[in-house]
Amino acid sequence: MVSPAIAFAFIPLLLTLIIRYRFYFVLFYRAVLVRIWKDCVTGLSREERAFQYVLTHATPGDTDSILDAFDSWCSKVEYISNIGPKKGKILDRLLMEQSPLTVLELGAHCGYSTVRIARALPLGARLYSVEMDQGNAAIAEKIIRLAGFDDDTVELIVNPSDEVIPRLRSDYQLERLDFVFMDHWKKCYLPDLQLLESYGLLGKGSMIVADNVLFPGAPKFLRYLRKCGLYEWKIHRATLEYSKGIRDGMAELIYQGIK
Ligand SMILES: C[S@@+](CC[C@H](N)C(=O)[O-])C[C@H]1O[C@@H](n2cnc3c(N)ncnc32)[C@H](O)[C@@H]1O
Repeated sequence: MVSPAIAFAFIPLLLTLIIRYRFYFVLFYRAVLVRIWKDCVTGLSREERAFQYVLTHATPGDTDSILDAFDSWCSKVEYISNIGPKKGKILDRLLMEQSPLTVLELGAHCGYSTVRIARALPLGARLYSVEMDQGNAAIAEKIIRLAGFDDDTVELIVNPSDEVIPRLRSDYQLERLDFVFMDHWKKCYLPDLQLLESYGLLGKGSMIVADNVLFPGAPKFLRYLRKCGLYEWKIHRATLEYSKGIRDGMAELIYQGIK
């Protein structure tokens, strides 16, 4: 039996831990506990709930109102790891500067970043968005079409990235990707970047943007960038989407070609 004196001695330590990690507790509560509870109560998936909210709060064809509805749902109602408005603005700027014609997105989820990317593209550009989860892809497809993008502008490919990348040349006639947005499972960042390299899909000047490289983090990916010498790169520091106090960052890479 622990004596009351010892138990009391742990209270300051416990309080310090709670205060220090409060943002992570809030994230766990919003992303995990609220989700489980609402899944049981509504019988719908979190993605279906987000879609219903967007349907009732956004105007079809108005990309800004669709993104705003997502942002409001994710900050006030439930949590979804869309790139969010703050890092989204950095992505918008990079797309405007780069003006890419052929874009690949890895990880569409509900289509938030897909719409965000598609609205920033120049006329005639094409976005290939890869999503392996059928349920998420079904929602993403509805969101993309609700935003008014047709199949010629945004093509959603429902398969895992490591199966899609090797087929981009043969099945989609892609020679070079001007811009790649990585926002799928973090452990896939490095193998998928190496797949893009080995299938010759990157050209000098191709830009790759990878989200969440600091939280949840992609340490192997960052270690590779430091060592390989194939990229000029930097990290745009920010906080985690729809969260306060959790530091995150988005990596921006420019492929320098094989030296
Ligand atoms: C963080 S969410 C993407 C959020 C989205 N980019 C946004 O900002 O709106 C990650 C998504 O990537 C998908 N995913 C994870 N690993 C994948 C892979 N190897 N290939 C394709 N999709 C993947 C998951 O199913 C999930 O829907």
